[in-house]
Amino acid sequence: MDFNLTEELTLIRDMARDFGEKELLPRAAKFDAQESIDPDVFEKMGELGLFGLTIPEEYGGAGMGNLALSIVLMEINRCCASTGVTLSVHNSLLGSPIKRFGTEEQKAKWLPKLATGELIGAYCLTEPNAGSDAAAIRTTAVRDGDDWILDGTKIFVTNGGFAGLFVVYARTNPDASNAKGISAFLVPKGTPGLTVGKKEKKLGIRGSSTTEILFDKVRVGADALLGEENKGFPVAMDTLDGGRIGISSQAIGIGDACLEAAVKYSKEREQFGRPISAFQAIQWKIADMSSRLDAARLMVFRAAALRDEGKRCSREAAQAKLLASTTANYCADECLQIHGGAGYTDDFHVERLFRDARITEIYEGATDIQRIVIARQVLAG
Ligand code: CAA
Repeated sequence: MDFNLTEELTLIRDMARDFGEKELLPRAAKFDAQESIDPDVFEKMGELGLFGLTIPEEYGGAGMGNLALSIVLMEINRCCASTGVTLSVHNSLLGSPIKRFGTEEQKAKWLPKLATGELIGAYCLTEPNAGSDAAAIRTTAVRDGDDWILDGTKIFVTNGGFAGLFVVYARTNPDASNAKGISAFLVPKGTPGLTVGKKEKKLGIRGSSTTEILFDKVRVGADALLGEENKGFPVAMDTLDGGRIGISSQAIGIGDACLEAAVKYSKEREQFGRPISAFQAIQWKIADMSSRLDAARLMVFRAAALRDEGKRCSREAAQAKLLASTTANYCADECLQIHGGAGYTDDFHVERLFRDARITEIYEGATDIQRIVIARQVLAG
């Protein structure tokens, strides 16, 4: 077991760190306030190959794996979690299922455009009545000759406003039990009947785009079906195994930023005649933040490495997300406490980190859903 990053992973980490510190960190507060990310950020990420990180080289990507993506996401999210989730969803929730379940034609058609960032990807699963119970979706896809007609409403779609391509989960067999009658479809923006609905105003990750996506008699061809008919739910779940590694990485990035801010402030801030870092109460917080982050980081790397080996990692990804997301919130809370009143204002970026951390325990499966996934597998032996 080698805990050192390879030369290639070290280079990619340094590239992401450099990009994040130069292009994202100075503007993260602006993206948060304006509730959008400046378009030049996407152009630069495209030039650096970040949109195609996990897309095979034959389709114009960098051909790297989930481990590389995790490392990049930790660095990007350390600087701007809004940009971080945009990149995570693009790579893990759209690039990944096309790579794993797409036909040769689908890969050739979509992956090169996703690799450059010409198209940003989004994942449409959640509906007003189907959040944690994802198999209860009501969006339908009905056959019409060789075509399919999609009708329904998706909510909380990350990248909804930026996306050029959506993977959409819809019920194709109303008679089958919930998870058995769902199929996945690839639907590009501009398809008649597909509209971007309400944009959510959020507590955190405000620069990212979270919208409704509405489907009103949206006609797609047979070539839009991703994977087998009525086998879309396992596609959605397999995709989320990778997505949860991405959100775990986001959580570590936010947690790292909290730890760095806490260390810096506690060395500068003097009370009772000395820096507050000299007090044991502060040192214990720093020790716990650092230890929990390192433990979570190792779990994220394990899940990513397993997925890169082609092994199922549902339990490991859920464990990583459970630990990383709760750790991110722990770190954000302690970091704010160390900053005291100053941390509650927007003079420091701690209040943004505190708001951004919260979502990591909610999206791509809430903390209690991760516990369900873990417990089911542990109990199954
Ligand atoms: N890989 C492959 N197949 C899987 C799988 C996986 N990880 N997990 C489940 N499956 C398969 C099962 O084997 C089963 O297939 P068979 O019937 O053939 O055996 C089928 O899928 C159904 O599985 P379950 O019985 O486990 O399904 P369930 O209805 O009990 O649901 C759940 C399980 C874990 C609760 C699931 O509904 C879930 O993960 N819910 C949370 C949904 C979620 O994370 N939503 C986030 C959406 S994206 C988002 O947040 C916004 C964004 O844009 C970022």
